[in-house]
Amino acid sequence: MKPALLLVAPIHAPTQARLESDYRVMRWYDAPDRAALIERAATEARVAVTSGGAGMKAELIDALPRLELIACFGVGVDAIDLAAARARGIRVTNTPDVLTDDVADLALGLILATVRRIVAADRYVREGRWLKGPMPLTGRMKGTRLGIVGMGRIGQAIAHRAAAFGMDIAYFGPHPKPVPWRYEPDLVALARESGVLAVACPGGESTRGLIDRTVLDALGPAGILVNIARGSVVDEDALVAALTSGRLGGAGLDVFADEPRVPAALLALDNVVLQPHQGSATHATRGAMGQLVLDNVEAFFAGRPLPTPVT
Ligand code: 8YV
Repeated sequence: MKPALLLVAPIHAPTQARLESDYRVMRWYDAPDRAALIERAATEARVAVTSGGAGMKAELIDALPRLELIACFGVGVDAIDLAAARARGIRVTNTPDVLTDDVADLALGLILATVRRIVAADRYVREGRWLKGPMPLTGRMKGTRLGIVGMGRIGQAIAHRAAAFGMDIAYFGPHPKPVPWRYEPDLVALARESGVLAVACPGGESTRGLIDRTVLDALGPAGILVNIARGSVVDEDALVAALTSGRLGGAGLDVFADEPRVPAALLALDNVVLQPHQGSATHATRGAMGQLVLDNVEAFFAGRPLPTPVT
């Protein structure tokens, strides 16, 4: 008999199709009778697969006494209750590296789109405003100071790309890294000197609300915030207030506090570029992320070392 597996949330369709052909997949997210499903999963499921967005709450982990592995489709595991998993010795895997370049590309896209006002300029043409006169001038990439919050894999990939555009790069994080860019241990000081502040750190409790009103005010009316990390890292109310009052120059946002709900105030702003959490959303990367999920689950059932454990 095929091993059983609990699927907490829908994932990349081709990956889910392969899971469904190789395992007995119990779909928690659309089970007509969740209690009955959990009762079965409690006796059978040693593995749960989830998405980065859905994660796995302690309550669900606690309901599965046989659970040994949570395989996450996504690099960010902040929505998984890691403390609950750790307490039970449940291992967690994620999908690092394969998505780094695409997420960094989107960050650069958002930096370009906001600094050069590409999306606003598109509207300018479509709405016939060009016929009445030229669009106002914009900022430029070269020489603009880019502050990167979180110099991990994605932060470094952003820095390499931004360097090619001639941006002047510095970064903040819990400690300096062996990278060629300048470390700034004071986030407010980094924001004050930056034209663009790009958020690329993990989500979770340790970074919740890190980008608060003080940081946004330091970035100031000419500054731009770009976030491709997690909505939780930014105090979204403070961000909306700063943007609507003109205390912040603009924002490029791929992530939000309560996805897919985006604050209505942001929709009306011409200096904000919005994305529906698209960082890793390319065919190639989602395929590679799915392969890592499949490889981790297969390694678990074969008793082999997990390819990408969260340590
Ligand atoms: C995905 C992500 O959108 O990897 C992450 O942490 O945020 C994205 O790649 C998400 O995990 C898909 O479920």
